[in-house]
Amino acid sequence: MRLITKITLLSLLKFTFTRYGSGWVLVAGLVPRYVMRIDYLAEHPEFIATLAGWHHNEWAYLRPGESLEARTTRLRAACGREEMPTVFVAFSGSTLLGSAMIVAHDMDTRMELTPWLAGVFVAPDYRRKGIGSALVGRVVQCARLLGVKRLYLYTPSAEQMYSRLGWSTVERTSYRGADVVVMSYDILPDTGE
Ligand SMILES: CC(C)(COP(=O)(O)OP(=O)(O)OC[C@H]1O[C@@H](n2cnc3c(N)ncnc32)[C@H](O)[C@@H]1OP(=O)(O)O)[C@@H](O)C(=O)NCCC(=O)NCCS
Repeated sequence: MRLITKITLLSLLKFTFTRYGSGWVLVAGLVPRYVMRIDYLAEHPEFIATLAGWHHNEWAYLRPGESLEARTTRLRAACGREEMPTVFVAFSGSTLLGSAMIVAHDMDTRMELTPWLAGVFVAPDYRRKGIGSALVGRVVQCARLLGVKRLYLYTPSAEQMYSRLGWSTVERTSYRGADVVVMSYDILPDTGE
């Protein structure tokens, strides 16, 4: 089943005052609509190289010794569709906006925990618009469809965002030289309400 999430980022009536003769008139216009879609990276392989570069710049320190080429290969291998693993991308037209993925394991020191939300990244120019939250929601939806009861993640920096989204802190620990927080999310069955 291919679920595509579409979110209108901006669709507003814009009102401006324009000078007309000796007075002012109110002019209404439409701000362009930016429609964001979330879909499988598998359906958009043209984004793989860019996304691998973003992930590498952000998290190379957590995988010391892994080259960009190796990360690209790993990302391509994770390109499932509503399975484990699956990479989701948010995009508008040909502009890649962000990513999130579901993987069986993400911390080799916590192999007993599975599966994991990973690779949550939004391009800097598009942050604080709800895209990260929408991507996390899409992975939760995928996990629910797969029958997952509890999802895990670790983050060095975004505990506040995940707490706001209902995630609970499991532990604070050190992982590959970084202070990280392991968090979990209990997935309730979709009642269709
Ligand atoms: C963390 C990250 C994914 C968040 O992406 P995002 O698209 O900015 O996320 P959201 O917009 O859904 O929410 C982020 C914050 O913006 C706020 N926000 C959302 N829409 C907003 C808006 N229109 N105006 C102002 N703030 C807004 C949210 O309330 C949230 O605040 P919080 O951090 O206090 O909870 C992004 O900053 C990123 O890629 N960081 C680098 C990689 C990273 O840290 N990844 C995650 C951890 S491994």
